[in-house]
Amino acid sequence: MSRLEGVRVAVLTVSDRVATGARDDAGGSALCELLEGVGATLVSRAVVPDEPEPISAALRAMTGDADLVLTTGGTGLGPRDVTPEATRAVLDREAPGIAEALRHASLAITPFAMLSRATAGLAGRVLVVNLPGNPKAVREEWAVLAPVLAHAVETARGPVADEAHQHPPDA
Ligand code: MTE
Repeated sequence: MSRLEGVRVAVLTVSDRVATGARDDAGGSALCELLEGVGATLVSRAVVPDEPEPISAALRAMTGDADLVLTTGGTGLGPRDVTPEATRAVLDREAPGIAEALRHASLAITPFAMLSRATAGLAGRVLVVNLPGNPKAVREEWAVLAPVLAHAVETARGPVADEAHQHPPDA
C-alpha cells in the first residue's frame, strides 16, 4: 500500500440524509480512517446535500488547498444523485480510467457496481475522485485506488509540463 505522507486531502460527503443529521457520515468517516492509515493530511471535510451548486461550490473551495479531493455518495441512479455532474462542472480534464477501474474491480464484488456513474479527473492540478456512499463500498474501492494515488498525485502536481512524462516506480 503506498503511503501518502505530505499529501493534502479533502473529503466531501454528498448526502441529503447526512446533511440533515438523519444519518451518520459513515462514508466520510471510513475515508478519513483510511487516509489516516496511509499518513495523508486531512485538510478539510464537509457534508453537502444532493444539490449541484453546493457540491460544486464545496469542490471548488476544497481544491484551493488540497492535492486530492475524495467524494463519497450521490453517484447512483437516484433522481437526486448528481455528484458526477457537479464534479464534472469543476474538472478541467477527466481521468476516465480511474472511474472505469473502480467500477471494473467493484463488479467482481457486486453487480450493483454497474449502477455507479462516478467520475474522476483534474481540477487544475488537484485530483478529484468520486466514490460510493456506502462505507463497505468505500473500503472496497479504496483498496483499488490507494496503490496508485501517490503516483497519481505526484504526476498531477508535477512541477513543469515537460517533466510530466514520469513513469510509475515499478514500470
Ligand atoms: N462498489 C462496491 N465496491 N461495493 C458496493 O457495494 N455499491 C453500488 C455501487 N458501487 C457498491 C459499489 C451501488 S448499490 C450503488 S447504487 C452505486 O455504487 C452508487 O452508490 P452511491 O449512490 O452511494 O454513490
